[in-house]
Amino acid sequence: MRSIINEKNLNNKKILLRLDLNVPLKRDKITDTTRIDKILPTLNFLIKEKAKIIILSHVGRPKGKIVKELSLKPICEELQNKLRKKVKLVSENIKQIKSKNFFNNYNEDIFILENIRFYSEEEQNDNKFAEMLSNLGDIYVNDAFSCSHRAHASIYKIPKFLPSFSGLQLDLEVNALNKITSKIVRPITCIIGGSKISTKIDVIKNLITKFDSIIIVGGMANNFIEYFGNNVGKSIKEKNCDIIVEEIISLSKKEKCKIIYPEDVIVSKDLNGSPQNKELNKILSDEMILDIGPKTIDKITKIIDNSKTILWNGPAGYFENPNFAYGSIQIAKKIIENSKVNKIFSVVGGGDTVSLLNNLNAVNEFNFVSTAGGAFLEYLEGKNLPGITALN
Ligand code: 3PG
Repeated sequence: MRSIINEKNLNNKKILLRLDLNVPLKRDKITDTTRIDKILPTLNFLIKEKAKIIILSHVGRPKGKIVKELSLKPICEELQNKLRKKVKLVSENIKQIKSKNFFNNYNEDIFILENIRFYSEEEQNDNKFAEMLSNLGDIYVNDAFSCSHRAHASIYKIPKFLPSFSGLQLDLEVNALNKITSKIVRPITCIIGGSKISTKIDVIKNLITKFDSIIIVGGMANNFIEYFGNNVGKSIKEKNCDIIVEEIISLSKKEKCKIIYPEDVIVSKDLNGSPQNKELNKILSDEMILDIGPKTIDKITKIIDNSKTILWNGPAGYFENPNFAYGSIQIAKKIIENSKVNKIFSVVGGGDTVSLLNNLNAVNEFNFVSTAGGAFLEYLEGKNLPGITALN
């Protein structure tokens, strides 16, 4: 993997820069800018080298359709403010851009193409689409470690057509994760939560063979709660997951890895409702699980106390509403307490988890904080990430 930082002749070169600007948005407002802040060094480096930049990124999962709420407009504005430079959002159909004279039509040096996932070809890893994009640039740079686990056109295919390099943030993430995997000390606990169930539930099976305990919280825990015969009411859950849950349980027994899921929960009638502590067998059909309960918090803090390494990915509840953030905050506090006295090595990953820690002003209290979620877990599992493979 060659890093762009070592390239000298970038003057006037057109750089196709894949970033992960998939930041949390609430009514057009960015609620956490960590992913933007982290890629500024790459942009500043390219600006200093007088390169011309075309940024590619997705936000959310529009599934090949134009979804107004998932425009990169607020992200483009934030980038402009942070860089103090004009960044032009290109909203026209990118398939109609005449590549040869793209930069001639404008005065700007930095462009951002509208959400790349508005085009179904992106997730289909379409060859023609990637070739068309590659015609816009001279060089491709991947500084999107957090989506390098996706074999999508702008991550996996473009490198087939252009000289390709890693960006500064991707270098940093890969180096840090390599260091962590070589230094890891047992007992190792992974706390895994959040709502992207389908992307993580398989990962758990792989982690079982390497970890001593896996604590399942957040949306994906609802599948376990239901599997053990409880009503989860209106809670989010993945459909048809019983077989996966069964596999996870039987594999964990074989590998002697403890699987822990909530013993009690905090429910409400809706996301803005008031919190109520419930035993698992008392959840009503019109209630949704939004946090872990006090018994579960107690159990988790004991496991953290008995661990030497903690990997945490995904909040324990709907932390965006402070009524349901208590479980995640208690987990964060316990890890910080033990990190401070060097009792554990703590690694955190995932956009939501990092947002939570930013809200608590606690990002610097952990040994390593990755902006990646799924990619972070897959890398730790030892999987080859398509985005990294393509650069090699
Ligand atoms: C992430 O937030 O983990 C990345 O941006 C990838 O997003 P995805 O899970 O929708 O592919």
